[in-house]
Amino acid sequence: MSKKSYQIAVIPGDGTGSEVVREGIKVLEAASRKFGFKLNFTHFDFGGDRYLRTGEVLPESAVGELKKYNAIFLGAIGHPDVKPGILEKGILLRLRFELDQYINLRPVRLYPGVETPLKDKGPQDIDYVVVRENTGGIYTGVGGVTMKGTPQEIAVQSNVYCRFQVERCIRYAFEYTRKRKKKMTLALCGKTNVLTFVFDLWERVFHEIGAEEFPDIKREYYHVDATCMWMVKNPEWFDVIVTDNMFGDIITDLGAITQGGMGIAAGGNINPNGVSMFEPIGGSAPKYTGKNVINPLASICSGGMMLDHLGESQAAEAIEKSVMHVTANKLKSLAAGKMGYSTTEVGDMVVSGV
Ligand code: IPM
Ligand code: MN
Repeated sequence: MSKKSYQIAVIPGDGTGSEVVREGIKVLEAASRKFGFKLNFTHFDFGGDRYLRTGEVLPESAVGELKKYNAIFLGAIGHPDVKPGILEKGILLRLRFELDQYINLRPVRLYPGVETPLKDKGPQDIDYVVVRENTGGIYTGVGGVTMKGTPQEIAVQSNVYCRFQVERCIRYAFEYTRKRKKKMTLALCGKTNVLTFVFDLWERVFHEIGAEEFPDIKREYYHVDATCMWMVKNPEWFDVIVTDNMFGDIITDLGAITQGGMGIAAGGNINPNGVSMFEPIGGSAPKYTGKNVINPLASICSGGMMLDHLGESQAAEAIEKSVMHVTANKLKSLAAGKMGYSTTEVGDMVVSGV
């Protein structure tokens, strides 16, 4: 019988991206050997260096080419010599939008042995998932500027949502909550007291779809400011949180720091019917580039999420268990340069536990 095989596009990107992706691939290959499937990796050099060399952010053919793969494994985007926004918008956001990766799935889970800044909270308290809408809202760039540079300058950037986008995101979140089978609770995070158009739409869709299609899932609502408060004070309340693009961006950085920081926080840009892209939440960390000190666990965990998405859930579980063993028994800290081990050694330790 021939082995199942997957075609993976790899975009190491900028800064420490290539170092963490290298460890991620090492672990993915170990898991594929153990669980009897094959991964074929094809590297793409999109990123700041290529842009500085060629003046091209993303070649015209890139999106079409990437659509041929089963998944995309991304390191980090962001280069100190390139003005902020160019690479982020031209590569990361463009891929999310054009590949219609309308969900950004960001688990917030505190692994054993990891220090959290939250007082008296442990792994049993911090274990929830944020479902961030990923292709709409303020990120669409609807708006403009006029009279720029004058005292009368006007700048507008609109929070745009159509019902279709809200429905598919909320439906995904309910289905995810059901599949997760933990507290069976989905919380909508919004701002219905001020953003009375957009979050009224979200809230109505949330209750309509919930009542009709997911009577087994409990529904809760929190304003975004209160969500931040409870994520710090009572994270154990949460199971799955669904929210818009901008709020999702903000609250997942807060979530990440409660689970030990950018060294561990992983995410997936999901198109349930297309090509999904898996990446650490953190950036390219120019300061640590090339030093073999960056924490590869966020990349390794995003690789695990990728395998789970591809249907290799046993392999995904093995990776997560191995990561948990390493955080519980080996690492001094999750911070770059303070782990007590190099990037490569952390990758090796995860490999040996898979
Ligand atoms: C993230 C990042 C991106 C975002 C930036 C780099 C465009 O902060 O993935 O959370 O805002 O979505
Ligand atoms: Mn962010």
